[in-house]
Amino acid sequence: MQLLNLIIFPLLLLSPVSTAATHLEYDYIVVGSGAGGGPLASRLARGGHKTLLIEAGSDQSDNLNTTVPGYQASVTEDPALRWDIFVNHYKDQKRAQRDPKYTWETAPYQYHVGPNPPEGATPRGILYPRAQALGGCTPHNALIWITPHKSDWDNIAKLTGDESWAHENMDQYLKKVYEWLYTEPTDPTILINDLPLAQHYVAGAAASGQGPDPLNAVDGLVNLLANDPNSQVNPARDSTQGFFQVPLTMNAGNRTDVTDFIKSTVSEGFPLDVRTNAYVTKINFDQSGSTPKATGVEFQDGEYLHRASPRSLHSKPGTPGSAKAKKEVIISAGAYNTPQLLKLSGIGPKKELEKFKIPVVKDLRGVGTNLMDRYEIPVNVQHKKDFPILKGCTFDEKPHDECLKKWEQNPYILGQRGAYATNGLAATLAVNSDYASDSNIDLYIFGGPINFQGYFPGWAEQAVADHSHFSWYTLKAHTRNHAGTVELQSTDPFDQPRINFYYFDEGTTKDGADDKDVGAIVQAIKISRKALSEYYNYAILGGSSFEEENPGKDVTADEDLEQYAKDVAWGHHASCTAPIGAKDDPNAVLDSEFRVRGVDNLRVVDASVFPDIPGVFITAPIYIISEKAADVILNGSK
Ligand SMILES: Cc1cc2nc3c(=O)[nH]c(=O)nc-3n(C[C@H](O)[C@H](O)[C@H](O)COP(=O)(O)OP(=O)(O)OC[C@H]3O[C@@H](n4cnc5c(N)ncnc54)[C@H](O)[C@@H]3O)c2cc1C
Ligand SMILES: *[C@@H]1O[C@H](CO)[C@@H](O)[C@H](O)[C@H]1NC(C)=O
Ligand SMILES: *[C@@H]1O[C@H](CO)[C@@H](O)[C@H](O)[C@H]1NC(C)=O
Repeated sequence: MQLLNLIIFPLLLLSPVSTAATHLEYDYIVVGSGAGGGPLASRLARGGHKTLLIEAGSDQSDNLNTTVPGYQASVTEDPALRWDIFVNHYKDQKRAQRDPKYTWETAPYQYHVGPNPPEGATPRGILYPRAQALGGCTPHNALIWITPHKSDWDNIAKLTGDESWAHENMDQYLKKVYEWLYTEPTDPTILINDLPLAQHYVAGAAASGQGPDPLNAVDGLVNLLANDPNSQVNPARDSTQGFFQVPLTMNAGNRTDVTDFIKSTVSEGFPLDVRTNAYVTKINFDQSGSTPKATGVEFQDGEYLHRASPRSLHSKPGTPGSAKAKKEVIISAGAYNTPQLLKLSGIGPKKELEKFKIPVVKDLRGVGTNLMDRYEIPVNVQHKKDFPILKGCTFDEKPHDECLKKWEQNPYILGQRGAYATNGLAATLAVNSDYASDSNIDLYIFGGPINFQGYFPGWAEQAVADHSHFSWYTLKAHTRNHAGTVELQSTDPFDQPRINFYYFDEGTTKDGADDKDVGAIVQAIKISRKALSEYYNYAILGGSSFEEENPGKDVTADEDLEQYAKDVAWGHHASCTAPIGAKDDPNAVLDSEFRVRGVDNLRVVDASVFPDIPGVFITAPIYIISEKAADVILNGSK
């Protein structure tokens, strides 16, 4: 922390206007400090290379919102780091507006959610939370830590012919991540202090055929929560169905993420300069040779420069600067900003670049295509009585927040830190649906005492506004839709790009792709309802009765459930917009070593690199590819 201050404050605060940085020179420049850029920049510096890590946001690790796992919803609305990015699920706006989360802007950063907007409001689409911060989205995500499937890696090996992607070889990079990352599940003693909540969890286990004897329900639940979905000893793990704990990026009840690794790299004296509050506007190239060569970046120093930040309204204009990279520039700005920055720098589909009068450095038609995500869907119920675990939790960090007090007063014993030492989603059903293409798990159905209906302005307040809601919420993995796009809306780097997902039948329909995805979601809703009905078989635990709110008890026919899925589904694992691919694939943006094709000294390392969305969650695969990229760069091809 001290060292970081030393590096950043003299540059930004003590000499704000006149001294534009221009003579900076490094071996490597990494743009973006999230799951992709953070580990990589740290490893390059630890390898002895003078490295610059440029990050739009600031260090928020002293902010309670990024430390207390129970604030995982509030943190996404914290103006200190949030970016309000809006996306289209459907091109057809009539259809898009069937989603109750569809949002209109009534004044700058003031929103109306749902139908009947006031006159003159601007349609914005669906909120897609992102963060600007040291650590990127990792200090504001939901902490869920699920490692990818073996086939995710083997498929890249097959696609590219690069055997270093085979899962046997990729294991070493997960081990590298565990050198700096802590993970742990929610402590079962926190859960079993709330019998009505335990009642839902044993019911979930029952829905997966593992329900304990009601007379022995609590012990049974504790045993079941020992099931680790990331097991490194079960060879059939990727296809093992059942009831599991949810591992979190947490250490003794505090959130952990790559920020800690970046900061320890600096404090241990490795040659890493972290330039926070600095936004890269362009990659520079030397075009004198036959192949364009990345030589550095243009940036602006300043806080909250990007217009997706509500604080940009009051931010001062940035101070321009530039930095040179003797070896390489690596872009890790995330699945939306990476393709945007490439395009603004002249790397992308020629037609689109010409439309915006951007000089073409390299015509690469795949940049900003192939955008993928998962589909998520909830079943929400409301109880007659509150969940005991949430008693005193106000989720607002004020002195009256009893749950914060409990978390603060018991720093060493996880089980005594209470509701805030969990993200609230402590257990999951893992399912291989009837629509899966192989034996891998493709549904995770999470349970928690939260009213979670997806992301919209104000979602965090609604999620915990009362203490009587419970949700089974599904994440459909191994989705098949590759149709999404990230396109420029302007040449202003501080504007968000235009993001279209083309959900379901608007997107990939080959071989019934859309019907299979929606079919799996409908199956998940039915399993969620099975879990809800099993709840009453464990009445001995004393939980109160409930009413289903979404989709609602009258919504039962398959076609109605399909319509519900299409109306309200959302995602938050945007990826695959600068994909690795085969040499002869004109849509491939990167080779198997993260190099931008047709350009020297430029790589991409973040959620954008995947040809196909990996596993069930995305942070773990991104951390892993970041470690792989560091190995490839430091030690060359194998
Ligand atoms: C609400 C929410 C909950 C989530 N929950 C989970 C979860 O529980 N588990 C899970 O596995 N995943 C989760 N995710 C997803 C996961 O956190 C992200 O997908 C992941 O962090 C993406 O990593 P990345 O490196 O591609 O991009 P990011 O982590 O977004 O990092 C990109 C960084 O680049 C910076 N940047 C962008 N453009 C520039 C520029 N031009 N100049 C300088 N800096 C720039 C940004 O400020 C940002 O810090 C969640 C995401 C959200 C939004
Ligand atoms: C945490 O986030 C909430 C928004 O959800 C915000 O109101 C609050 O001020 C933030 N807390 C801190 C310490 O920044
Ligand atoms: C957890 O966070 C608290 C409050 O920020 C801090 O005092 C404590 O040392 C942290 N514990 C660990 C294990 O990091």
